[in-house]
Amino acid sequence: MKKVGVLVGSLRRESYSKKLANNVVTLFPDGYEIECIKIGNLPFYNQDFDDENNVPTEVVDFRNKLGEFDAFLFITPEYNRSVPAVLKNALDTGSRPKTENRWGGKPAAIISQSPGGIGGFGANHHLRQSLTCLNMSVLQQPEAYIGNVATLLDESGSLTNEGTVEFLQKFVAKFVKLIEK
Ligand SMILES: Cc1cc2nc3c(=O)[nH]c(=O)nc-3n(C[C@H](O)[C@H](O)[C@H](O)COP(=O)(O)O)c2cc1C
Repeated sequence: MKKVGVLVGSLRRESYSKKLANNVVTLFPDGYEIECIKIGNLPFYNQDFDDENNVPTEVVDFRNKLGEFDAFLFITPEYNRSVPAVLKNALDTGSRPKTENRWGGKPAAIISQSPGGIGGFGANHHLRQSLTCLNMSVLQQPEAYIGNVATLLDESGSLTNEGTVEFLQKFVAKFVKLIEK
């Protein structure tokens, strides 16, 4: 059994990213366990936590939790053409102390979304930049920029656009191939 952790870059109750995540988790094959990892409870990372050996419980728990996963899937909106702070904070929190980078060596994939047409391109690539620094193997192709997201989901949050479902199914299949490598 492989375990994939999903990190969503939005805390909003009706978040499109969360709705997309709920659809994407159903596209993984048997033998995969998918879990959404909570990041909204983390304090802003402060290097004093580690330098003074005074690490908050939420941070300890989060870092331990990351150890359970074989791979990570990031699903995020774009905030001001970049990565929402809540997601960047989670990355920074899991990356320290430097000798214990919890992300290191693990496969990752990114899906960005937006109600606009550009599909969160800026967030997607800023995130990619950080994941490279964290020594993750990031799925290169296909790239997933889900634009006009509001038109692709129904009232209950299900993806109604067949083309999008097909695309995400292919995306997940490629991600699974990367994980199996
Ligand atoms: C602070 C802030 C900045 C935003 N910046 C962008 C942006 O740069 N590009 C974009 O496409 N949408 C931007 N938006 C709109 C978001 O794409 C939209 O609110 C989206 O629904 C957020 O994702 P969520 O539904 O998962 O919460 C921004 C929204 C907020 C709150």
